[in-house]
Amino acid sequence: MKVPNKINLAAIPTPVQQIKFEGKNFLIKRDDLTGMELSGNKVRKLEYLIYQAKKGKAEYVFTCGGEQSNHSRATALAAVQAGMKPRLFLWGRESKKPEGNLFIDKFIGAETTYLSKSEYNRVNEIMFEERQKYVKEGKRVYVIPEGGSSTLGIWGYVNFIYELKNQVDFSKISGILSASGSGGTTAGMLVGASLLNLDIKIYAVNVLYPAEVIKKKILNLAEGCILDFKLGCKLKDENLVILEGYSYEGYKKITNDKLSLIKKFARETGLILDPAYTGKAFKAYHENFINKGKGKQVIFVHTGGLFGVFAKKELYLGAKVEESY
Ligand SMILES: Cc1ncc(COP(=O)(O)O)c(C=O)c1O
Repeated sequence: MKVPNKINLAAIPTPVQQIKFEGKNFLIKRDDLTGMELSGNKVRKLEYLIYQAKKGKAEYVFTCGGEQSNHSRATALAAVQAGMKPRLFLWGRESKKPEGNLFIDKFIGAETTYLSKSEYNRVNEIMFEERQKYVKEGKRVYVIPEGGSSTLGIWGYVNFIYELKNQVDFSKISGILSASGSGGTTAGMLVGASLLNLDIKIYAVNVLYPAEVIKKKILNLAEGCILDFKLGCKLKDENLVILEGYSYEGYKKITNDKLSLIKKFARETGLILDPAYTGKAFKAYHENFINKGKGKQVIFVHTGGLFGVFAKKELYLGAKVEESY
């Protein structure tokens, strides 16, 4: 087994907390606490990716995502911390009043390039073409794919499972649930669970891609990681469960019922969920697991996303209704 090297960016281990909501107790793994500016699940992946970028003596780091991409913002911060210049390829439009993650991107001087949805569908090609231009000028560029989800990046969540094993008794756990965007968080957990031979379900709440697409992405990443790093374990495909139907309004939108749940949750627990990922994942958790009584528990992973809240603050305050459902 080839374990890749990394730098230290994340404040880990993140705590596992017992939370009470609507009179029910359950466990939350607080991956929103991986660190303030970098915050959230992306940081674990960036530890490996930024190491690789530095090893290759990159001067520039390219990555991509939506205009409120937590990953792009975390990558930009990590690149700057490591002495490299970030360039972000964002699905969205330039804004005179950048909010949330985009504000941070601008604030720290990341170069931003905006793409339409159809252009974003070929973002990997676009990043590659741009990279070629830099290379011709003698500049070294490291390209990080969407969500940091490569067979290297997902090591962050292979390790997450080892970390969690030291914190909980897995004989009392039947699964782990998190939001799935690019799929790397889920893929890493699947590999980690296979390496440790854990018989648990890995629940993914797809917020960006349709269920069949994200399932393929996750399995390809997990199998690719096993092959690339000669891990020699066998993936249990049946342990991957996609919980579909919690982002039917679209990645950039959120329904009023989910907003109400997010608000209620914040007011009872003091924890804030974001509108693109954790709010939708928690809706799935609430419907499927919170009220299910005794027996083995499913752990909810809070993957961060706090900056995304600011881009939707009027919705959070109930001052504006995005769309009625
Ligand atoms: C807050 C948050 N949660 C969950 C995810 C999903 O992670 P992944 O892209 O690894 O599926 C992301 C990023 O996409 C995110 O920013």
